[in-house]
Order: sequence, then C-alpha cells, then structure tokens
Amino acid sequence: MGLMSSLCRFILVTTILLAAHQFSISSSLPIGVCYGLNGNDLPPPSEVVGLYKRSGIEFIRLYEPRPDVLEALRGSGLAVALCPLNEDLANIAQRPGAADAWVNTNIAPYMSDVLFRWIILGNEVIPGPLANYVPAAIANTRNSLAAIGLANVTVTTAIPGNALEASYPPSAGAFSSDITDVMIAVAGILAGSDAPLMINVYPYFAYASNPSQVSADYALFAATTPVVIDGSFLYYDLFDAMVDAFHAALERIGYPGLRVAIGESGWPSAGNDPYTSIDNAMIYNRNLVNHVLTNGTPRRPGEIMETFLFAMFNENLKQGAVEQNFGFFYPNMNPVYPFW
Ligand SMILES: *[C@@H]1O[C@H](CO)[C@@H](O)[C@H](O)[C@H]1NC(C)=O
Repeated sequence: MGLMSSLCRFILVTTILLAAHQFSISSSLPIGVCYGLNGNDLPPPSEVVGLYKRSGIEFIRLYEPRPDVLEALRGSGLAVALCPLNEDLANIAQRPGAADAWVNTNIAPYMSDVLFRWIILGNEVIPGPLANYVPAAIANTRNSLAAIGLANVTVTTAIPGNALEASYPPSAGAFSSDITDVMIAVAGILAGSDAPLMINVYPYFAYASNPSQVSADYALFAATTPVVIDGSFLYYDLFDAMVDAFHAALERIGYPGLRVAIGESGWPSAGNDPYTSIDNAMIYNRNLVNHVLTNGTPRRPGEIMETFLFAMFNENLKQGAVEQNFGFFYPNMNPVYPFW
C-alpha cells in the first residue's frame, strides 16, 4: 500500500480510536513536558510556569539550572527534573566538592519551595566523550543531595536511541560494545537506589528516515494487528518496540529488574511534510499519553513509566525546521493544537 493511502487509512482509524477513548488528563498522572530554552522569542519563565499550571501539567524537565526559571518555580508545586549543563559533568564526577558546590548553588537555595524530584546527570552523553563521567557524577550528586537532606531525589542519566547498537527485533536489543562497561556501572548505581534509567525515544525519526519500511500506523499507535512478532511478544506500536529494545539491552547486561522512564518523546508538527504535520503530532502525543498511562510494554506489562513529552514550545534557535517544531505551544503561548 502506498504511503499516502496508508496515511489516509491511519487518520480514519485513529479518528475512530480517539473518539472511542475519551482523552482526558487529570491530576497526579506521571506525565511531564520538557521546557527547552533554545528560542529568542520565548515568554518569561513566570508566564511559562503559569501556563504549565493552567494546562494541568505536573512535571517539568529543565536542561540547565537557570536561576530565573528556578525562581519562577518557587511555590508552583511542579515536580522538577533538572540537568546540570553537560560541560559541568566532568567536574562533578571528578571532585565531590564540585558536586557539593553544584548542589549548594542550584538546589539548596530553592529546596524550601521548589519540588526537585529528579536530577539527570548527562543528557545524551552516552555514547560520547563524556560518557565515562556519568557513574561518578551520579554517585557524587547523590551524596551531595543526601548531605542537604534530599536523599529522596531520584538521580539518573538520560540516554538516546543510538546508545543501542542493535534494536531489531526488540529482543536483540544491545548496548554498543564501547559503552557496555559504563552502562553496567550506571545500571548498578541506579538499581542500588531504585532509580529508573531515562531513555529518549523518538519513533518519528525511525519512521521519517525509513517510511517505506515503517508504516505510519505503527509509528502513530494506530495499527490494529501486530506489526512485529518477536517470540511471544506482539508489537502494535514502534514506541513499545523501541522501549523493549532498551529492556532487552538491560537484561543482557544483567539488570532485568531495572525500570526505564521516558526522558523525551514527541513528534514535530512541521518541517518535513507529510511525515510531520499538526495532525500527526497531535495523534502521536495523544496516543502516547493514553498508552503510557494504561500499558506497560510487551516485555513489562503493567509497568507504568514516568514520561516527559518534548516539548513545551517551538524553539527557533534549534538546528533545522523539524527540530524547531516539536512544541505544544507557540512562543506567544497559543497552542499549536488542542491538547492540554
Ligand atoms: C524530599 O524530602 C524533603 C524533606 O523532607 C521534602 O521537602 C521533599 O518534598 C521530598 N521530595 C520528594 C521528591 O519527595
């Protein structure tokens, strides 16, 4: 079947599915939105925090500890996931005093009225030249947080899909050989502190780079029959297949019990038509939220994953039209499509 006709079919099918499943987001769901700051036209942080609150979004992920953003979060009740800048990682890993200084500068002054729930050491630095710093950075930061009474904050790292050298079928999931040792060290620390590994999962890129092999239905949670059959596991959607490849990779290095959380997932609304569109972005994100709230994956049925959607705003300083159009909102705070 041609791509356009399969797109048309999927739009029909998902319209019916969406009508059948009442979509609503209420309080205390494990869903957040990433607040990227790569735009020169974004609203002030205090207005952004207000928009999160009005929208009923309870988790916020930040990519840098910006004082104006942390100030705006005071008293908001939002649960915060905060990343140090990648350039601070080596220092934090190599000197416990540097981890103390980072925590004393960026966490301690706000902790009385900002709810820090996750600290993410390294965003997509595994694989890469900073990868080997991650285990010690996690360990040092945990100690520094404990020293100020925040041993309850989850400390982890976020890794991208290319940390896997095999991901198809999902049971073949394996970390690249050059990062196996660092992943064993990371997994050991996370398992010891009951923290999930964060993974950034983008079916969009797998689909858009190979639309002749990957159907829109499979990428957008619209398939009605299994698309991939992997032993006893049936995959109706690419998201589950991608997540289970990470589960299989963790099993392969000896950590079958480690949970994953979704550090980023989303779909661009423009920049690469017809794969990007407002409809596709809305359908993907709606189906993703419904999916993660009610299902685990075939390898982990019933295991609900905290999930951060990417992203709050279209960001005009990112590279390329696709990267600039992941937002739920335009910089003027109007929604790109009805969602929240
Ligand atoms: C961690 O403990 C502190 C101090 O008791 C508390 O204020 C904070 O809300 C807790 N944080 C989380 C994420 O549970």
